Amino acid sequence: MGYKDVYAAWKADPEGFWMEQAQAIDWDEAPKQALFDRGDHLYEWFADAKVNTCWNAVDRHVEAGRGEQTAIIYDSPITHTKREISYVELRNRVATLAGALRAKGVDKGDRVIIYMPMIPEALEAMLACARLGAIHSVVFGGFASNELAVRIDDAKPKCIIAASCGLEPGRVVHYKPLLDGAIDMAKHKPDFCVIFQREQEVAHLEEGRDVNWHGFQYGVQPAECVPVEGNHPAYILYTSGTTGQPKGVVRPTAGHLVALNWTMKNIYNVDPGEVFWAASDVGWVVGHSYICYAPLIHGNTTIVFEGKPVGTPDAGTFWRVISEHKVRSFFTAPTAFRAVKREDPNGEFIRKYDLSQLRAVYLAGERADPDTIEWAQKMLGKPVYDHWWQTETGWTIAGMPAGIEALPVKIGSPSVPMPGYDIQVLDEAGHPMKPGELGAIAVKLPLPPGTLPTLWNAPDRFKKSYLSHFPGYYETGDAGMIDEDGYLYIMARTDDVINVAGHRLSTGGMEEVLASHPDVAECAVIGVTDQLKGQLPMGFVCLTSGVNRPHDEIAKECVKLVRDKIGPVAAFKLCAVVDRLPKTRSGKILRATMVKIADGEDFKMPATIDDPAILDEIKLALQGLGYAK
Ligand code: COA
Ligand code: AMP
Repeated sequence: MGYKDVYAAWKADPEGFWMEQAQAIDWDEAPKQALFDRGDHLYEWFADAKVNTCWNAVDRHVEAGRGEQTAIIYDSPITHTKREISYVELRNRVATLAGALRAKGVDKGDRVIIYMPMIPEALEAMLACARLGAIHSVVFGGFASNELAVRIDDAKPKCIIAASCGLEPGRVVHYKPLLDGAIDMAKHKPDFCVIFQREQEVAHLEEGRDVNWHGFQYGVQPAECVPVEGNHPAYILYTSGTTGQPKGVVRPTAGHLVALNWTMKNIYNVDPGEVFWAASDVGWVVGHSYICYAPLIHGNTTIVFEGKPVGTPDAGTFWRVISEHKVRSFFTAPTAFRAVKREDPNGEFIRKYDLSQLRAVYLAGERADPDTIEWAQKMLGKPVYDHWWQTETGWTIAGMPAGIEALPVKIGSPSVPMPGYDIQVLDEAGHPMKPGELGAIAVKLPLPPGTLPTLWNAPDRFKKSYLSHFPGYYETGDAGMIDEDGYLYIMARTDDVINVAGHRLSTGGMEEVLASHPDVAECAVIGVTDQLKGQLPMGFVCLTSGVNRPHDEIAKECVKLVRDKIGPVAAFKLCAVVDRLPKTRSGKILRATMVKIADGEDFKMPATIDDPAILDEIKLALQGLGYAK
C-alpha cells in the first residue's frame, strides 16, 4: 500500500485503523473500544485498556529474548565517556530505581519532577516512573529556578529527581543550587529529592530531604510494572504559551504507546534492532518521544548524546556518532545543521566518516530553511525530510511517510498529513481556504492517539487555547497553506510564541519578566530573524517617569533579569530603552510591524497607528542593536 492508500484507509475507518496498530502493543487488558467521545469536543483513546509503558519499552524485549541487545548508547564528547546499556541491564536498573521510589512512597498517579542533563539516568528515571504509573514531568536544564518553581507548584510532585550538575561547553551548570532555589521559591514542597552525583561536581545533600541516587536504591525490592488505565497520564510536559504560566501538556498512556510505535517504521523507517538517534534533549518533546519512548517501545537502540553540534570537539561530532554507532535514521533541528554548516560549509568533516549505514535525516522543531536542506542533501547525499509537529501532539502531524513510501520532497514543505490528522487551512471565520491560500492551520477533531486530551490543572485553558476559536477543530497556533498536491507549508505562528534555536519560547512570558523591573513602565518583546538560531528575542522597554539612570545600565539589568528568571535558554541578549512603543489607536502594540522593521522588510503603515513618528524612533533603537540596517 502506498501513502494515499494508507491515509485513505485511516480516513475510511479511523477507529479500525488505530485498533489494528494497537495490536503491536502488549496489553494487560486489551482495548475493546478505540475512541471515547467525552462530549464538548473532548476525546480519549483506548480508555478501557490496561497497560504499562515501561513493560512495553523495556521488559517485553527482554522476555522476547532480546535482552542482550543494546537499548541505550551514551555518547558524551563533553565528558569523553561512552557506555552501552543492554535491555536486560536497563530492565534491572529501572526496576530497582522504581522499587526505591516506591519504598519512599511514590505510587501510581503521584507526580515526579525530573531535572537532569543528557545522561542515561534521565531516561531511567522516566521509565521508573512509568513502571509505577507515577506521572513524570521533565524540566529542561536550561531553565532557571523560577521556571522550575512554577512547574513544582503546578505539578505538585511528591519527589524530584535531579543530577548534581549539567555540562555546557566551558561551563558547569550547577543544578543543585538551582533546585534548592526553586524549592525555596515554590509553595509546594516535595517529600524528598533524589540526587544523582556526577563526578564533575558532588553536590551538598540536605539532610532529611535529599537522598543519594545510589544509596537509596541499596537493598530494595525491584518493582514490577503496574498496569494503568489507557487514559492515565504517562507524563506532563510544560511548554510555552502566550503567558508566563507554561501549559502542562498531558500525554495519555495507551495512545502514546500505539502512536509512537507506529511512527518508528512508517515515518522513521527503522526496524527493531536498528540504531535511531534524535540529537535533542530529554527536556523537550523530541527527547521524550524520540530519545526515550518511541525507539525503546519499538525495540530500537537509542543514543543519549551529551554534546553540541559544534565545539564538542568540532563540527564533525554528528558524523562521528552516526558512523561509529551505525545510526540508520537521524533526527535533529535545522539550527544544529546551520551551526555545522557555518563551521564546515564544504563538508570536509563529513568526508572523514563512513555514513553508508545512514538512510535519511529528519528535521523538526522549527522551520527548515531551503538553504540548510539543500546543503544537507548535497553534503550527505541522503534524503533530508522536514516534518512538523508540536509538544501538544507528541508526534508528526505532517511529514514524510518514508517507511510506507518515499514521496517526492518539496523543499520548504514538511510534506503531507499523517494518518490521524485531517489538516485544514481556515480563514478567520473558520471557512476552509483554497489550495495555495494562507490561513490558520487547524486539525479536525478528534486528534489521533497520543495527542493531548487536556492541560494539567487547566481544562478550561485547554478549551480556550485550542478548541474555542474554530469549533470542531484543534487550533495549532501555526499559519500556512496546502498546495494542489496536498503538501503543507508552515509559515509563522499566529500567537506570541517564538522559536529560538529550535526552542519554543513565549515573548509574553519575557514581557512579564521585563515588566517586573522596578524602572520599567511598559515593554514589548519581539522575535527577530537570526541566521543561526532562526529567531532571537528582542526587548523594548519604556521607563517609569522620573527614572534618570543610564539607559545602557537598565538594558543590561533587563537582560540579566530574563536570564535569571527564565534561564540562559531564552538567549535574551538584545534590549533597548525607548521613549514610546508604537501602538494602534486602541492601544495594541504593533509588534508585527516592529519585526518587519528589524528584519529590514517592506511594511505597510498600519492604518490604525496612533503616531507614525514613533516608528522612526524604533528604527533608530533597532539600528543601535545592529538591526534594521
Ligand atoms: N542546560 C543549561 N544551559 C543550557 C542548556 C542546558 N541543557 N542548553 C543550552 N543552555 C544554555 C547555553 O549554554 C547558552 O548559554 P550562554 O548564553 O551562557 O551561552 C544558552 O542556554 C543558549 O543556548 P542555545 O540557544 O542552545 O545556544 P548555543 O549558542 O549554546 O548553541 C546551537 C547553539 C545551535 C549549537 C544549539 O542551539 C543547538 O544545538 N541547537 C539544537 C536545538 C535542539 O536540539 N532543539 C531541540 C528541538 S528538536
Ligand atoms: P514544540 O512544541 O517546542 O515542538 O514547538 C512546536 C512549534 O515549532 C510548532 O507549532 C511550529 O511553530 C514550530 N515547528 C516545529 N516543527 C516545525 C517545522 N518542521 N516547520 C516549521 N515550524 C515547525
